[in-house]
Amino acid sequence: MKMLDHKLLIAAALGASALLAGCEMPPPDVVQNGYRGLGMHTNYNPRLLQASLDANVPPEPIPAAAPGGPKAKDVYKNVQVLGELTVNEFNRLMVALTNWVSPEQGCYYCHVNEGFEYDGIYTKTVSRRMIQMTQDTNANWKDHVADTGVTCYTCHRGNPVPQYVWTSDPGPGQPSAMAPTGQNTPSKTVAYASLPYDPFTPFLSQDNDIRVIGQTALPQGNRRSIKQAEWTYGLMMHLSQALGVNCTYCHNTRSFYSWDQSAPQRTTAWYAIRHVRSMNNDYVTPLGEVLPDTRKGPLGDPYKIYCTTCHQGAYKPLYGAPMLKDYPSLAQPLTETDAEAIKAAEAPPTPAAQAGADATPAEEAQTAEEPAAAEQDVVASAASSEAQSQPATDAPVQLQYPPPEMMQYPPAPLQYPPPPAER
Ligand code: HEC
Ligand code: HEC
Ligand code: HEC
Ligand code: HEC
Repeated sequence: MKMLDHKLLIAAALGASALLAGCEMPPPDVVQNGYRGLGMHTNYNPRLLQASLDANVPPEPIPAAAPGGPKAKDVYKNVQVLGELTVNEFNRLMVALTNWVSPEQGCYYCHVNEGFEYDGIYTKTVSRRMIQMTQDTNANWKDHVADTGVTCYTCHRGNPVPQYVWTSDPGPGQPSAMAPTGQNTPSKTVAYASLPYDPFTPFLSQDNDIRVIGQTALPQGNRRSIKQAEWTYGLMMHLSQALGVNCTYCHNTRSFYSWDQSAPQRTTAWYAIRHVRSMNNDYVTPLGEVLPDTRKGPLGDPYKIYCTTCHQGAYKPLYGAPMLKDYPSLAQPLTETDAEAIKAAEAPPTPAAQAGADATPAEEAQTAEEPAAAEQDVVASAASSEAQSQPATDAPVQLQYPPPEMMQYPPAPLQYPPPPAER
């Protein structure tokens, strides 16, 4: 009996310490991000915030390349997207790519002994497309990434495969007689709530409708179901976790649907969702043809991008540190005109360079870029499409997940009570 008491005491003490350790100390800092009185604020734990700030510091920029000299396309044998850079700037970028993506493996992560021009290693083909994806992001998605922009480091952080990626998740097997619901299994992706554990495939690859709320008091016309709303909530859990914010960073909870009561960040997030869809469908999914199976999920789709890939718990990746300004070659697809502008930005402008940039007709710049894109057999179909997201049906990897009926759950038709009997 004594023995048992002793054990109980220890168990109680352990239990209590586990409980206390679960509490977040010190008390949170509250940052207001809406009008006063609306409860639109974000809670930060100062200790965790400090850890996050320390973990999100960008590396020092590499010193700028010496201006002038020949162009990469005139010196090297097989440059398809960076040809307009000077050799100096090209080599500076190669060193940067190595630091950002493969610091331990070095140049030979993307190159082979036969020669730097040789394309026989998939990492090089993938990188070329990644360079285009980065340039497209910085040039065409300013509604989301502003002038802060992104570099390879924003996602890769010194890893060949970014730390935070997703693949379609069919979930655990189901008893044969039951249709899978895609939910009710604890999953980290939705903070262990019983929400659908893969809200990414339907919204960040496919373009299913995220909005579910009816705008009238009575159910007139809106036939969305609670099940559908759960997928939306699953995605919203991810948005909040990825950015390290509460729902009220974007929404005024008195009206989740209303745009004019939402914070401006919600509009940014709307563009962000389209942007991530486009990166996945136009760039990453087509790369499934060259990526090895070890870089794919259980359904054979490549590791893809979601909000955490860049944000990693910060409301702006790297807390808004503007890395792109130090690497203007990643700011837009390189045409001759742009390359002149980059040169001008790096060196004090000479009258000759200015005149040259002005005289180059836009069409000439266009033709200079096109063959490069066409040569890329892997991505030819994606390259021809616009930056906007395209339906998943165009992509070479055909996902059967989630089955369309899983996203629809058509609610039972509305049953109106019979009209009152005549009196
Ligand atoms: C993360 C991948 C990656 C790493 C690491 C990398 N490169 Fe490259 N490299 C590329 C890509 C992609 C191209 C082709 C660019 C293009 O088509 O415009 C290229 C092309 C080149 C070329 C042009 C070869 C030719 O004749 O066509 C040279 C030279 C080169 N790299 C040198 C280096 C050096 C030196 C390092 C290490 C400091 C390095 N690279 C690290 C991806 C990489
Ligand atoms: C928006 C995020 C993002 C950015 C920006 C980005 N990448 Fe990637 N990259 C990814 C993802 C996601 C994968 C994983 C694809 C897979 O393996 O299925 C990947 C894979 C790769 C791989 C293949 C690695 C391997 O071992 O399989 C290379 C090489 C690479 N990226 C190079 C680059 C370079 C170079 C840049 C900058 C020009 C860049 N990436 C920018 C998201 C990004
Ligand atoms: C980073 C900004 C952001 C955060 C944080 C966020 N949301 Fe959203 N939310 C959006 C955007 C953007 C949409 C509309 C998406 C679209 O239409 O593509 C949306 C849509 C919704 C909708 C559907 C509205 C309608 O019209 O049907 C609900 C419900 C919702 N969010 C709930 C939440 C909840 C609950 C949280 C916290 C767990 C949350 N949101 C966190 C940006 C955010
Ligand atoms: C390719 C990297 C990348 C990915 C992936 C990404 N973001 Fe961003 N996001 C950025 C950058 C860079 C900024 C900073 C823009 C600026 O300085 O205003 C940003 C800013 C934002 C902001 C504005 C924050 C503020 O306080 O003004 C919101 C909201 C946002 N992103 C939402 C999202 C959502 C939601 C997703 C996922 C659907 C997402 N982002 C995925 C790069 C990314």
